[in-house]
Amino acid sequence: MSFIAPALPETAPFSPAQRAWLDGFIAGLLGDSGNGPEAAGSPPGEPEDFPWHDPGLSLDERIALAAGRRPERMLMAAMAQTDCGQCGYSCQAYAEAIASGADGNIGRCTPGGKATSRKLKELLAGMATTAVVSTPALAASPAISPGAGPAQAPRFAARLRLARRLNRAGSEKDTRLVVLETDAGAERFQVGDSLGVVARNCLELVAAIIARLGASADTPVISPDGIERPLGEALSQACEIRRPSDQAIEVLASRAHDLEESRILQATAEGYPGAGPDDADLLDLLDGFPSARPPLSELISALDPLQPRLYSIASSPKHTAGEVHLTVAAVRYKQRARHRTGVASTFLCDRVMPGAEVTVYVHPAEAFRLPAPDRPVIMIGPGTGVAPFRGFLQERQVTAARGRNWLVFGNPRRRTDFLFEDELTAWHRGGLLTRLDTAFSRDQEHKIYVQHRLLESAAELWAWLEDGAHLYVCGDAGHMARDVDKGLLYIVAKEGRMEPAAAKAYLARLAGEGRYQRDVY
Ligand SMILES: Cc1cc2nc3c(=O)[nH]c(=O)nc-3n(C[C@H](O)[C@H](O)[C@H](O)COP(=O)(O)OP(=O)(O)OC[C@H]3O[C@@H](n4cnc5c(N)ncnc54)[C@H](O)[C@@H]3O)c2cc1C
Ligand SMILES: NC(=O)c1ccc[n+]([C@@H]2O[C@H](COP(=O)([O-])OP(=O)(O)OC[C@H]3O[C@@H](n4cnc5c(N)ncnc54)[C@H](OP(=O)(O)O)[C@@H]3O)[C@@H](O)[C@H]2O)c1
Repeated sequence: MSFIAPALPETAPFSPAQRAWLDGFIAGLLGDSGNGPEAAGSPPGEPEDFPWHDPGLSLDERIALAAGRRPERMLMAAMAQTDCGQCGYSCQAYAEAIASGADGNIGRCTPGGKATSRKLKELLAGMATTAVVSTPALAASPAISPGAGPAQAPRFAARLRLARRLNRAGSEKDTRLVVLETDAGAERFQVGDSLGVVARNCLELVAAIIARLGASADTPVISPDGIERPLGEALSQACEIRRPSDQAIEVLASRAHDLEESRILQATAEGYPGAGPDDADLLDLLDGFPSARPPLSELISALDPLQPRLYSIASSPKHTAGEVHLTVAAVRYKQRARHRTGVASTFLCDRVMPGAEVTVYVHPAEAFRLPAPDRPVIMIGPGTGVAPFRGFLQERQVTAARGRNWLVFGNPRRRTDFLFEDELTAWHRGGLLTRLDTAFSRDQEHKIYVQHRLLESAAELWAWLEDGAHLYVCGDAGHMARDVDKGLLYIVAKEGRMEPAAAKAYLARLAGEGRYQRDVY
């Protein structure tokens, strides 16, 4: 039975987050299950829907779609919705862990960044002031408090064999084939899984921070995980120094002797646009606000813990036993006259020497798996998105799987950026790859992307789908995956002669059947 719940009057003195939560609470109370807020938005007996669970939607759109739902669903809507696993959970499980108090760290959603952590903080503050339920996290302060965090996958040591450049000279990109040797057998991972890499920060950046703090690397400090370490070790191994947490910026603000510096830092911590330097790292803040020199442990313990980074595994353990291959794009750029480097990508590409150990773990991807050996697969993987598909193809080769394979790859330029060109073209010639389509975006005046190649072959793609093909998309979540999804909707509507809503339902059905799987980041 459906009903229309009364909403709070516009003039009621509540923030949007408080209003949304209260509307949901009232809806839940008046719903026919009588179970209070837990019932809001999910009629009894019907499977719950998550309309905000789409990385293509903006944060505001997601929050609006979750308005009126129970608190953990509103918290879920603040997440980036990629289910990328970097936080150690799915988006739903992370929100539930925060709401229940099982995890007190609201800064784990890497793709959502500060926008997500600030929205979580705002929602929790709204919920705490209106909460009449005894949910520990909602009743507590929204500030980060120690929480158990996600279950840790078992970590093991791997040795770097090589980090070979895959782009040819002259490319603007630096994407490497990273090969790690492990003593672990094939049982450790399956194709489709990702590898978590426990990286260390750049030592020059750490040294510069220590110098600005006027400190010694040996001074013992409390790290964000509560463990005491020498300052140098804490900064290199345990702290996120490229994106200082709002809590650490507040510590700087509260300890700045200069009132103007304190004001700007406080505004930065509160997320006022343009308040402080854009995307400042810890060194930027220490340089820009010289009067802010808090006691060391107070500052260091307020930083976020350094999180491992995930990389799609680009090899099959059946094909290359004892090795894990990754395809890593080195993040390097210049900002405010200083060269910046991504923590884990340049750790693997530049700072780990061949033969040195790297701590890793397997992040299983149960929702990104090859189908039965005779099923056709369509793999869409521009840039580093090609990684899992190299693993898929190796696996299908070794197991002599008979299903047809279609790969659509894209990157800026054919001459310099055709990753794994020799392998892929040999697989195409040999018949393992039934189709190999490429989209080199910058080889002509107008951009050509993978979805354009799909549109050119719309009838064939439709025929593959109707023949039971499984569709896979891997790579950039921000633009590519959303635009490919739009292209697929167009193809399904055109070739299947459907209205847009029916095409959407068709793709949703494929996803529900595990025939449209995405690994996007
Ligand atoms: C499931 C999964 C699979 C993944 N697979 C792969 C893979 O196969 N290969 C791969 O390379 N990556 C992959 N990633 C991404 C990877 O985990 C890291 O996010 C990526 O390598 C960057 O991490 P980093 O530590 O090097 O950079 P970080 O230190 O995290 O810095 C990255 C940040 O730097 C900033 N930044 C980057 N470029 C610029 C710029 N030009 N201007 C200004 N700011 C900038 C952005 O804020 C960006 O978020 C995957 C992610 C997930 C979740
Ligand atoms: N900034 C860095 O230094 C850096 C380094 C590594 C990775 N990353 C990030 O990591 C992710 C993966 O990078 P990557 O090297 O694997 O490849 P990528 O940057 O995703 O690019 C791969 C290909 O996809 C194209 N592309 C861009 N927008 C697209 C869209 N809307 N639809 C379809 N294709 C699109 C690119 O074209 P064009 O680029 O010609 O538009 C390029 O040809 C991206 O999110 C990227 O931003 C950033």
